[in-house]
Amino acid sequence: MARVFVTGSSDGLGRMAAQLLIEQGHKVVLHARNPERGQQARSAVPQAEGVVIGDLTSIRQTRKVAEEVNALGSFDAVIHNAGVGYQEPRRIATEDGLPHVFAVNTLAPYILTALINKPKRLVYLSSGLHRNGDATLDDLAWEHRPWQGQQAYSDTKLHDVLLAFAIARHWPDVLSNALEPGWVATKMGGPAATDDLDAGHRTQVWLAVSDDSAATVTGKYFYHMRLRAPNSATHSTERQEELLEACKRFSGVGMP
Ligand SMILES: NC(=O)c1ccc[n+]([C@@H]2O[C@H](COP(=O)([O-])OP(=O)(O)OC[C@H]3O[C@@H](n4cnc5c(N)ncnc54)[C@H](OP(=O)(O)O)[C@@H]3O)[C@@H](O)[C@H]2O)c1
Repeated sequence: MARVFVTGSSDGLGRMAAQLLIEQGHKVVLHARNPERGQQARSAVPQAEGVVIGDLTSIRQTRKVAEEVNALGSFDAVIHNAGVGYQEPRRIATEDGLPHVFAVNTLAPYILTALINKPKRLVYLSSGLHRNGDATLDDLAWEHRPWQGQQAYSDTKLHDVLLAFAIARHWPDVLSNALEPGWVATKMGGPAATDDLDAGHRTQVWLAVSDDSAATVTGKYFYHMRLRAPNSATHSTERQEELLEACKRFSGVGMP
């Protein structure tokens, strides 16, 4: 039996993953952006051990999420699932002055990875759209480029793979992998999504807890429990280091 923390588990794939983990006999701590969503998450997954509250658009609140998780003791796995979509029509600035999508999808998983006590496994939710992500890592905060919502989302999903692979390299004692769940009909995916919703959450659960030899690997990218080739730029250690450095600059949080 494992103990797993799932970010963004008030809805969608995170909530489905939490439910499946519990059905499999694991312990789960949920995460939601505010107390109201936390209450809703608890009602939806009543067998969860608890819920940590914090809005990942805020560096201050994200740091607090990490503190609260650490106060709950050690975890076998953390699933970095929370995310926001690709349809933001303009650059929405967070309280830290960063693009909303970058803050939630890139910086928050970086901060949580750096500050939560090392689990045995880390799982990062990417997307097939990461293949269109800008691997130059220029203008991460969208201060110079004209805003393009889908590009901004794709960039962050490339960052999630870079982060997973960087951690795999830095922490050989931790299994760190990324995945794409397919285009599925969650709040983010929308009703027109064509992939199998019931398969969308299974890979993150499998990577978090399964003892299958195929799941106990590190620095890999998956789709539906099978290896899939990510954007080749994600294998660049130079790019990985550049992303870690940029996230450190934006957040003031260094990797331990
Ligand atoms: N659905 C797809 O087709 C698809 C495809 C590729 C990749 N993905 C990835 O899969 C992951 C899960 O997506 P999903 O489809 O399940 O989306 P979803 O249904 O919209 O759920 C996203 C979760 O993240 C939480 N969240 C968003 N912003 C947050 C914030 N500022 N602070 C705290 N929590 C926040 C949401 O909270 P609220 O419920 O309060 O909004 C929700 O629990 C994401 O990383 C996404 O990029 C999804």
